[in-house]
Amino acid sequence: MCGIFGYTGPRPATPLLLEGLAGLEYRGYDSAGICVASAGGGAGLQVVRAAGKLPALRERVEAERPQGRTGMGHTRWATHGPPTEANAQPLVSGEGRGQVVTVQNGIVENHAELRNELSGLGFSFASDTDAECIPHLIRHYMSEGMDLAGAVRSAAGRLRGANAVVAMAAGEPDRMVAMRIGHAGGLVIGAGSGEALVASDLAAISPHARSVHYLGAGEVAEITAGAVTLTDLSGSPVARPPSRAPQDPARSFAVAPGPAARPSRNGSSAHRPQGSGGHFMIREIDEQPEALARALEGRMPAPGGAVRLGELSIPDEYLRSVGRVVLIGMGTSLHAAMVGRMWIENLAMVPAEVDNSSEFRYRRPVIDERTLVISVSQSGETADTLAAMEEARARGAVQVTLSNAEGSHATRIADAALPIRAGAELGVAATKTFTCSLTALYLLALHIGRARGVSAGGADAAADLARLPELVRGALGRQDRCEEVAGRYKDAGNFLYLGRGLSFPLAMEGALKLKEISYIHAEGYPAGEMKHGPISLIEEGVPVVALMPAGELFDKMLSNVHEVRARGGRVLAVTTEDASGLEGAASDILTVPAAPAALSPILMSVPMQLLAYHIGVLLDRDVDRPRNLAKSVTVE
Ligand code: M6R
Repeated sequence: MCGIFGYTGPRPATPLLLEGLAGLEYRGYDSAGICVASAGGGAGLQVVRAAGKLPALRERVEAERPQGRTGMGHTRWATHGPPTEANAQPLVSGEGRGQVVTVQNGIVENHAELRNELSGLGFSFASDTDAECIPHLIRHYMSEGMDLAGAVRSAAGRLRGANAVVAMAAGEPDRMVAMRIGHAGGLVIGAGSGEALVASDLAAISPHARSVHYLGAGEVAEITAGAVTLTDLSGSPVARPPSRAPQDPARSFAVAPGPAARPSRNGSSAHRPQGSGGHFMIREIDEQPEALARALEGRMPAPGGAVRLGELSIPDEYLRSVGRVVLIGMGTSLHAAMVGRMWIENLAMVPAEVDNSSEFRYRRPVIDERTLVISVSQSGETADTLAAMEEARARGAVQVTLSNAEGSHATRIADAALPIRAGAELGVAATKTFTCSLTALYLLALHIGRARGVSAGGADAAADLARLPELVRGALGRQDRCEEVAGRYKDAGNFLYLGRGLSFPLAMEGALKLKEISYIHAEGYPAGEMKHGPISLIEEGVPVVALMPAGELFDKMLSNVHEVRARGGRVLAVTTEDASGLEGAASDILTVPAAPAALSPILMSVPMQLLAYHIGVLLDRDVDRPRNLAKSVTVE
């Protein structure tokens, strides 16, 4: 979703802004713009915007050549108003010395009320956006004699909803003022030598920064080349020393993409990887053996031992006292949490439940200090998950978060973070972050089980994990078969995905992957639910993807397969190679290597991902940046 990047210092701002925005492209956006304060402030604030992607903005920038050493840029993911140039950000209020310009990530929930009030005061609106009231409000307060920082604080107090904003004023051309209210996407402020930056992502500023401030909710930062000053909304200083900027944020939680995936030096064009299909998504699917090996590195017990996650700063004594575990997440991370719930019940024998973060946050959950809340969020910035975590914190829960992003907001709310170590994932579809989240959840379940003295999660379960990278490599080796099958199913209008037990969340995930990448309608169900409604959709040729690894639920799934075939449906069975009984029953079969039952969700993810990917490619979809989607969903 919306991305923000700002710079002030001795270097020309424009190329840095374009490069910074290129690094934020993966978040998803549909228009972009920059604002540069002309050197010395003479020509005021120069704003250039364009609908569409960065090449369109670059063209405009080349024509208009804004120059200066302080500026900010924005990639907009449309919420209020279509993705036109007029609705693109930065948004402007006024002209000349009194001009104010802002970029924002979030939603102004009371925008209609503010628009009325500001219109009454003589402000005219040039966009359809909720965000335009922000520069007008700030200009209004500046016209009453406040400086930019004071006006930003006053404006912040008037906004409802979660918002992160950076503002510039023509009268104060060498500074930016950033503020954050609620759980809008993060803002990180970095200081280098004689320069400062602000961005939505740590990775965007870390090449330039020595120290970083993570802006908290209810905080305002005044940013100049020489100093970063933090206050709260009343103007009182916030005394929080900066953190050291990660030397290589790529290596810490998120591993950077290889050279082919980096933005080009001149910041030109979307940085497509070459080869391997030319898409981030397939590259990230293919990287899973290495990503999983990284997720396991240093976390596996000695032979015969049990998992002990030394990095998890939650005492075993507390884990023994836990009465209930609640897992939360959204989208793919929710599906990982659904699998995690079953592992925690089976391997740690603690009652566990799972909830969609956006439901959890509003349903007044019964949570206390004996509830361990586990949140899953690869970005660590998902607005609903952050709000759910705050809700859990307010009720006294102890929290662990699984994240792929160092310094993300989620890691700062939780009592402990368990990095999933997937490496940077730039395709919008979560692939390797899903399997790495699952791996981390499995380790966590074993860790809790060990702390509680449960033997089900003993040495055998840990030893199984060690085989995971090789098993996944084996599943990836069957890619040609997935591509061939994709060709046979690509023209279907609807898909049903069915699974039982650990394969039920995978059915949800397979359907999500297919719909987001191919735009084909797909639903995932527990197979037992089929007769309670979805079966009415089955007619000649309707594809049903049946997830059915060998094991105790295989025969139950086989009955469902027969029921679908009896009604003319086409069954694509996804199974382990040690299963038998599908020949003649399924229309097509995809297999993965035989594996311990508990690991089947990780292994069987691979053909699900490949099927969605190849169908998307065959249908000529933008698989890396599917329509309407954002990588990081920072608004509710
Ligand atoms: O960053 P998060 O893991 O919290 O993101 C949650 C969802 O937005 C995300 O998993 C989404 O469903 C995926 N991009 C789907 O592939």
